Amino acid sequence: MRICVVGAGYVGLTTATALADFGHEVQCVDIDQAKIESLRQGKVPFYEQGLQELMNINHQNGRLHFSIQVEENIRDSPIVLIAVDTPPKEDGSSNLSNIHSVVETIASNIKGYKLIITKSTVPPGTNALLYQMLLDKGVEEDLFDIVSNPEFLREGTALWDIKHPNKIVFGTRSERPIKILKKLYQKGKASYIFTSLTGAELIKYASNTFLATKISFANEMARICDAFEVNYIDVAKGLGTDPRINRHFLNAGLGFGGSCLPKDLCALKDAAMRQNVETKLLDAVMAINDTQIDIYLKKLRTVLPNLEGKQITVWGLTFKPHTDDLRTSPAIALIKQLIRKGCYVHTYDPMVQQELANVSNFNDQYESVKNSDALIIATEWEQFHECDWSEVKSRMKASIILDARNCIDEKIVRNEGFIYLGVGKP
Ligand code: UDX
Ligand code: UDX
Repeated sequence: MRICVVGAGYVGLTTATALADFGHEVQCVDIDQAKIESLRQGKVPFYEQGLQELMNINHQNGRLHFSIQVEENIRDSPIVLIAVDTPPKEDGSSNLSNIHSVVETIASNIKGYKLIITKSTVPPGTNALLYQMLLDKGVEEDLFDIVSNPEFLREGTALWDIKHPNKIVFGTRSERPIKILKKLYQKGKASYIFTSLTGAELIKYASNTFLATKISFANEMARICDAFEVNYIDVAKGLGTDPRINRHFLNAGLGFGGSCLPKDLCALKDAAMRQNVETKLLDAVMAINDTQIDIYLKKLRTVLPNLEGKQITVWGLTFKPHTDDLRTSPAIALIKQLIRKGCYVHTYDPMVQQELANVSNFNDQYESVKNSDALIIATEWEQFHECDWSEVKSRMKASIILDARNCIDEKIVRNEGFIYLGVGKP
């Protein structure tokens, strides 16, 4: 099938590449000229495991094309998949201007039947409004179907996720598009979930806010474990062995970040508030997340009471490992707090650097700890687990490690003579 994917970002490019790999002919369009130029030269502008290779294969075999000709490609494709970003506004609600502009372009370029698929995360009720918007612009009802098809792609494993989905959600207004929709993805063992437009939108928000809830629950439990001098890891293991609960998303630490969980939580709270629904649980989930950094700075002060003038090294900048994405990264928020407290900050990340005032970035993890009073591990990259701790100790001024992701072996570092502070650990 011929498909136009609008938006070549993390979600759009991954989806476009997978669809081409499934055998479709895909035109991936974006208004960002530099991005399209880079893609045409065979270069993915961000890191996503396996994407570069798969994109090259499908670009070279002629199934995946890149263009800035948004209008023409929308006009010529019977299927248009929208994957533009829906960033948060100051008040937490979603900025839908990108999606509106794409739908306007579609409205003025419908000649024959078009299947419009919304992949971008949009607040409940949006697809129904987009449907009405198309009618108001004079597009005949028979000429299009609109479908809400949310993504559940984790950065770092996005290609694996799209190739091995556990569910494929389609929100539709009628049964008309179902036959085509079933040809879109490789279903594998996944189940199809057909629901209304708004039902699909809410499945997406419910999924991400539930994951956020598990993390904040884990973080609150870790705080309680700290108070009772109990190892939270044991509690998480005990919880996780119950299949009704499971161990996923129970890692306590600096809290959740990234471009989705915090944004989706705020957007769902905002959407509920507009319908006069109180969201006490979601409010608590956010409040816990918002105070995680304070909790760890308080921990650090138990061994380093005055942070002013201290040199602190932070390992890990991205919002989680296996990505170069810094959007809403707890590590960056932590660094900004350290700077506000008068610290000098050194950073090291295996994949990225971030220019910040009063921060020195290093390419070498051992160089980065030179003369530091403390080392904070903010993202659980594997190489931190495997590092040479005697080398680290010999370069630091004081021997303090705050493992804010519980990712290194505390016995090894304690044997090396470090003061080790972990998450929910006596
Ligand atoms: C996606 C989703 O679409 C978002 O709703 C979801 O919640 C998170 O994942 P993401 O892929 O991360 O967003 O966004 P980004 O990497 O910023 O890519 C969006 C792309 O759309 C950009 O390349 C931008 O240039 C492009 N764009 C934006 C258009 O092509 N047209 C527009 O009108 C606006
Ligand atoms: C998320 C969803 O998981 C995915 O299905 C899709 O909807 C996009 O949004 P992503 O943003 O890539 O994916 O990251 P995710 O793996 O969900 O992690 C989000 C944050 O939670 C990270 O900052 C991570 O460090 C944190 N996290 C995760 C924890 O703090 N503890 C955990 O146990 C798991």
